[in-house]
Amino acid sequence: MSDLPRTALVTGASRGFGRAIAAALVAAGAAVVGLARDEQELHAVRGELGPGFTPVAGDATDEALAEQLIRTHQPDLLVLNAGAVPHMAPLPEQTWETFSRNWQVDTRHVFAWTRAALRQPLAPGSVVVAMSSGAALNGSPLSGGYASAKAAVRYLRSYAAEEAERAGLGIRFAALLPKLTPTAGVGAAGVTGYAARQGVDRDAFVAGLQPVLTPEQVAEAVLSIARDPGSGPEYLVGGDGLRPIG
Ligand SMILES: NC(=O)c1ccc[n+]([C@@H]2O[C@H](COP(=O)([O-])OP(=O)(O)OC[C@H]3O[C@@H](n4cnc5c(N)ncnc54)[C@H](OP(=O)(O)O)[C@@H]3O)[C@@H](O)[C@H]2O)c1
Repeated sequence: MSDLPRTALVTGASRGFGRAIAAALVAAGAAVVGLARDEQELHAVRGELGPGFTPVAGDATDEALAEQLIRTHQPDLLVLNAGAVPHMAPLPEQTWETFSRNWQVDTRHVFAWTRAALRQPLAPGSVVVAMSSGAALNGSPLSGGYASAKAAVRYLRSYAAEEAERAGLGIRFAALLPKLTPTAGVGAAGVTGYAARQGVDRDAFVAGLQPVLTPEQVAEAVLSIARDPGSGPEYLVGGDGLRPIG
């Protein structure tokens, strides 16, 4: 897609990065369908962004819902951003249930939507951007299975790109790996956990993350990947900008 998306579907659109991505897309003239579970928060986003934003309350891991929303709205951009806040604790204090939380939400929803995008399929020229994390490169020892769940998102992206290529679908699959930031929910929990572990206060820990990544920078990164058909498949994004990986 060298032009702007006409219709974008953003998962996890009610807060944090997803809300900023939806706002940037609406500002750029796209019709945006925003999915999250909390209906009230979604309606607040609709109040802020206006009729360009269509709220849908539901669970992003629901495969049938993914298929139905793709069929109904025919998006030419999918932003697979929904994610759970990890259970912040060292390994001995994790259970399998807490350890696998991000597999059950983040990875499972990327699997469901990626599969639906290939099977329906999306129209040629469409783009799918999946939210991984810088943690997929470096690990995240206090976040249970978070880093591995986000590494699986990168694999899903590459498998999907290969299948799209083999079938000549003309769908582009990209992954974005944001660095840790306290400016949205997942990173805010991470910063609190890592600061406590290091025995420093939160502000001191955040000082080490400068320049701090903002949700608006993440949104800009998504738009630039969506607009540029020549862009690479994977990018790291931090407060210091966007950098291709590999
Ligand atoms: N913040 C960071 O430092 C950072 C760094 C790297 C990567 N990331 C990734 O970026 C993404 C967004 O993070 P964030 O910090 O913006 O998170 P956030 O502020 O906690 O927002 C998460 C969003 O996902 C939605 N969500 C969660 N589970 C869902 C489900 N089962 N179905 C539908 N929606 C669901 C939430 O709405 P409901 O709860 O109402 O459903 C909310 O809209 C995540 O995938 C995260 O792992 C974040």
